[in-house]
Amino acid sequence: MRLRNWLFQNFREVSQLYGFEEIDFPVLESEALFIRKAGEEIRDQLYCFEDRGNRRVALRPELTPSLARLVIQKGKSVSLPLKWFAIGQCWRYERMTRGRRREHYQWNMDIIGVPNVTAEAELISSIITFFKRIGITSSDVGFKVSSRKVLQEVLKRYSVPENLFGRVCVIIDKLEKIPIDDIKKELRSAELSEEAVEELLQILSVKSLDKLEEKLGASVEALTELKQLFSLAEKYGYSEWIQFDASIVRGLAYYTGIVFEGFDREGKLRAICGGGRYDRLLSTFGGDDLPACGFGFGDAVIIELLKERGLVPELSPQVENIVCSLDSDLQGGASLVAARLREKGKTVDLVLENKPLKWVFKRAARINAQRLIIVGSAEWQKGMVRVKILSSGEQYEIKVDELE
Ligand code: HAM
Repeated sequence: MRLRNWLFQNFREVSQLYGFEEIDFPVLESEALFIRKAGEEIRDQLYCFEDRGNRRVALRPELTPSLARLVIQKGKSVSLPLKWFAIGQCWRYERMTRGRRREHYQWNMDIIGVPNVTAEAELISSIITFFKRIGITSSDVGFKVSSRKVLQEVLKRYSVPENLFGRVCVIIDKLEKIPIDDIKKELRSAELSEEAVEELLQILSVKSLDKLEEKLGASVEALTELKQLFSLAEKYGYSEWIQFDASIVRGLAYYTGIVFEGFDREGKLRAICGGGRYDRLLSTFGGDDLPACGFGFGDAVIIELLKERGLVPELSPQVENIVCSLDSDLQGGASLVAARLREKGKTVDLVLENKPLKWVFKRAARINAQRLIIVGSAEWQKGMVRVKILSSGEQYEIKVDELE
């Protein structure tokens, strides 16, 4: 919990630094909220069941659909853009590997109402701020960035119907996970011609914007947006963190534009985080579409990375004062002292049973207490207690009322 709290505190502080407001949703949702027709992996990983009212429900595998529903619910009562963050527990029936668990927490930041890539640039900046705070540098991690509009452009050129777009993206996301022949087979079964499949696979190997321009021409939207993003990255000062990589599509069907993922440069770990633009999600839930983008950042891979780099912080419990009485008759006096200190906002570990001083000192060391306050009968009769500063060994007597 110490490590988790430390991590979440950093998530929170960074989100607030960027002016985002915290939100949360129920962990149990209607199953339908997570079912899309594109053949996503996440669909088969659902923890779902029928509740006592015969409703199909699911433990949330992600936060974005709940967020979309909330945006629709709020409707015109909120002013745009919305900048929301959440830290929520999610469940996916995954094969458990390093950094992938069946239960995990995800930090999400989303911007609703901004069609421009300034939003994506801001989101990536916030993740980088987070990395820097916890000691991760651009030689440890980077971001691979692309745009689904690259694929859209290719599909358009081969007259592939638009409704197949999500499905094609989901198939392509499996490139590194299943044999290429199976990918080709799946693409062909999505009614793509042999030629379109080859062109699609070719374009995915492109790793520079110049090369992309050569292939698609300078005027396509994907290219304009990507160029703008890289130019913004320069202004923010994080160019060395990001690179273009056309093979990045992400596995969720709803992304429509820029997509990105954080990766470790040693290539040992799964994606650290991922996100992108999803301008057409709201209408799938019956709302009016709004431009939107965001990311999810899990709590598992980052901890693995911190361990690898020896960056897991030493987190020890910290209580300012430990208060004990020297005999059981004075236990009430110790309670009084503890109460006074707590009223003044000081943290106190009150020894609740009569214990030998040796035990108290050991406990004081374990909780990193700064002061030991001893209630003994000689001092107590004078309305005083004995204070020992544990770092220096300095001791003095002080009136209970004067304790700070
Ligand atoms: P996702 O790519 O499915 O996106 O997951 C985002 C991140 O959540 C992953 O990069 C990883 O850090 C973490 N994650 C996912 N599954 C697991 C797991 N089984 N164990 C540990 N960590 C995991 C989404 O979920 C999108 N809803 C993100 C988003 C928000 N896009 C826009 N806004």
